[in-house]
Amino acid sequence: MHHFSYRDGSLFAEDVDLRRIADEVGTPVYVYSSATIERHYRLYAQAMQSAAPAGKAHVFYAMKANGNLGVLKTLASLGAGADTVSEGEIRKALAAGFPANRIVFSGVGKSESELRFAVQAGIYQVNIETEGELDLLSRVASALGKRQEAVFRVNPDIGAGGHAKITTGSSENKFGVSFEEVGRLYARAANLPGVRMMGLALHIGSQIQETESFEAAYAKMAVLVGDLRGEGHRVDRLDLGGGLGIPYDIPQDLEGRDFDHGPGLIEAYAAMVKRVTQGLDVELGFEPGRLIVGNAGILMTRVLHLNPRPTKQFLVVDAAMNDLVRPAMYEAYHEIWPVAEPQAGTPEVAYDVVGPICESGDTFTTGRVLPALAPDDLIAFMTAGAYGASMSSTYNQRLLVAEVLVKGADYAVTRPRQTFEELLGTDRAPPWLA
Ligand code: LLP
Repeated sequence: MHHFSYRDGSLFAEDVDLRRIADEVGTPVYVYSSATIERHYRLYAQAMQSAAPAGKAHVFYAMKANGNLGVLKTLASLGAGADTVSEGEIRKALAAGFPANRIVFSGVGKSESELRFAVQAGIYQVNIETEGELDLLSRVASALGKRQEAVFRVNPDIGAGGHAKITTGSSENKFGVSFEEVGRLYARAANLPGVRMMGLALHIGSQIQETESFEAAYAKMAVLVGDLRGEGHRVDRLDLGGGLGIPYDIPQDLEGRDFDHGPGLIEAYAAMVKRVTQGLDVELGFEPGRLIVGNAGILMTRVLHLNPRPTKQFLVVDAAMNDLVRPAMYEAYHEIWPVAEPQAGTPEVAYDVVGPICESGDTFTTGRVLPALAPDDLIAFMTAGAYGASMSSTYNQRLLVAEVLVKGADYAVTRPRQTFEELLGTDRAPPWLA
């Protein structure tokens, strides 16, 4: 479930009327619900704890999904760890209060300076993705007089996900060291002074709504754990990645449906993890992103203009693909809820909902049937809490939008709208044109 619902004719985030946020903060604006984030984190963490022996399940929130400081602090205060993919994310995780020893550093191409920063910070684990990175990490860490705990991210050659662009586990994808190489690399790592190999990691893709692909990949990893131990290696950790999906077409009657899923996907996943990893005697890591924050956020936008055509009706809104790129990039579907509760008998119109950006790809949806709307009306793109603001840009010299975190009847602007001074202030003219 989530905490966006109609009350007295208007859409609320928890106990805050979204019209109030639009008036006071302006649009477009991302609005996040603390209650939804907290609830999803707790339910997920509990389910994963049920899949492992006591104290052996560790949740590292994949902060690429949503790196808003308010969101991060909410999760850090609940005891979550952080899965990071850049020095910027590590720095932000630390600033948000995640302890260094609960931070994992993943990523296909880590640079020397990023690895140095991570080792110096004392993070929990580096997920190594190439042989070159193994050498580099050892060199960097031993120069600092340290030995960094690490795992190999393995490419299990089992990919899955809601879209080709978010599948990662196939051997055709750039991620991880190949399955056949792990034994050789583990043996090599044993002789390197700056790393201590602790186990394995994988992440097969995102927006996965079944458990079979996970199970096939995890079963392969379980075999690999046994093989490596047979060769005398230490394998204490298995990081199972993230990737569990959420439905983007959400029924309004959500009572009792914990993640908006039909009953049981999380439970089925947890039961499968337990079955496949039972007896392995490893610490389990999990890296959920979308599942925790996806339906905890909306993007609220205002209708600017109508542009009727003989064959269709364009609804031009003040948000654009730079603010929410998922529809343009992955043909992603986001529900649209009018902020003013639709009244019975309101005529319906099929709209192409588009933003102001100068390309046709700046289209959120086509032919979407909505209650008739007029300029100045507010609408909300639902389920925009994951990979919404975190993927935004300033394309067309548009300002990064404001982000708001709601808690009960309170809200705070946790990221003010960018200013034109900030947008233009970092540019430098070349001296010959100054
Ligand atoms: N761990 C690793 C190593 C990852 O690469 C990712 C996501 C996650 C965990 C978290 O996956 P999640 O639980 O959120 O599915 N921008 C795309 C999604 C890209 C996912 C990238 N990696 C979208 O908007 O659908």
